[in-house]
Amino acid sequence: MVTEVLKPSMETLKKAAELIKNGEVVGIPTETVYGLAANAYDSNACAKIFEAKGRPQDNPLIIHISSLTMLKNSVREIPPLALILADNFWSGPLTMIFPKKDIVPDTTSGGLDTVAVRMPDNEDTLNLIEMCGFPLAAPSANLSGSPSPTSATHVFQDMNGRIPLIIDGGECEKGVESTVICFTDNGKGVKILRPGAVTEEMLSRFCEVETDKNVFAKPMENEKVISPGVKYKHYSPKAKIVIVETDNDKAFADFLNSREEENLYGVIFGNEKDIKVKTMSYGITAEEQAHNLFAVLRRTDELGADIAYVRCPEKKGVGTAVYNRLLRAAAFNVIKL
Ligand code: TXA
Ligand code: MG
Repeated sequence: MVTEVLKPSMETLKKAAELIKNGEVVGIPTETVYGLAANAYDSNACAKIFEAKGRPQDNPLIIHISSLTMLKNSVREIPPLALILADNFWSGPLTMIFPKKDIVPDTTSGGLDTVAVRMPDNEDTLNLIEMCGFPLAAPSANLSGSPSPTSATHVFQDMNGRIPLIIDGGECEKGVESTVICFTDNGKGVKILRPGAVTEEMLSRFCEVETDKNVFAKPMENEKVISPGVKYKHYSPKAKIVIVETDNDKAFADFLNSREEENLYGVIFGNEKDIKVKTMSYGITAEEQAHNLFAVLRRTDELGADIAYVRCPEKKGVGTAVYNRLLRAAAFNVIKL
């Protein structure tokens, strides 16, 4: 299959909508990361997403909507709190989990009785969903296990020959995937299953918020988890990734300078001094780090790095999302100085 990469235009969106209506899979831009989109109500089309990614069948997909009508058509119950959060955070990087209607096939929900829903903040993609007239199921558009794609080039690296079309909407603004939440039983609160750009602080203005223990911990073998995605190896480039945690610039520089591995890179904030090994910078603020993280992980492969020591982000705000992704990329390998 030839994979076309086209800038968004009316014509491109029409073409994408036609492909999707015919059961094909298309690479789409969102404000978080690129998605691999298909008709969320079409089991065969969604099966193609799993095939293109090499994704385990029990890892459910997020469905992307352009209106609250699409939400109502897809789910059995909408807690009042969900409408408040939708009002404040949609369109945007917040995914909420609801009991699903039968119209959402088991392939989409990974066999679960629930479905994850979000309204992305990207005008072209919202128009595309409107043109289709049904929600688009879309996981991140990387091969299963690889860093998520934040540019059309990344999608092409992983999906060339596997899908007919990628819409090139430029670099994703946020750079980390959406915050995934479920509602607690009393309806008053939410639990964060995956941190993202909608932070705990932002959500706690509207409700009680807890963070699932698997966000920062390694799940045990055979443990039953709420979000199947946490079980799998994630975001891993070929290079070994190690997180180095310290708030002391000199200690970090000394650590890197004392390493003797070949093809070693330091992934630094960018304002450190006196580092003598090869470095890549991923930014000083948490927002910059989120925006750059996946591109930097992919770059370690392009440069043939064997090992990358990544300076640990500050674990607050969107930094918690950066840390959560890094922990998985590093297989929970953290050195504290
Ligand atoms: O920002 C994003 O969310 C991107 C863009 C493309 O929208 N999508 C994305 O999808 O990150 P994916 O498939 O890579 O991650 C979806 C996560 C997985 O960890 C999955 O286990 C969880 O959401 N999830 C999906 N449906 C769920 C459900 N019904 N219950 C619990 N977790 C669910
Ligand atoms: Mg993913």
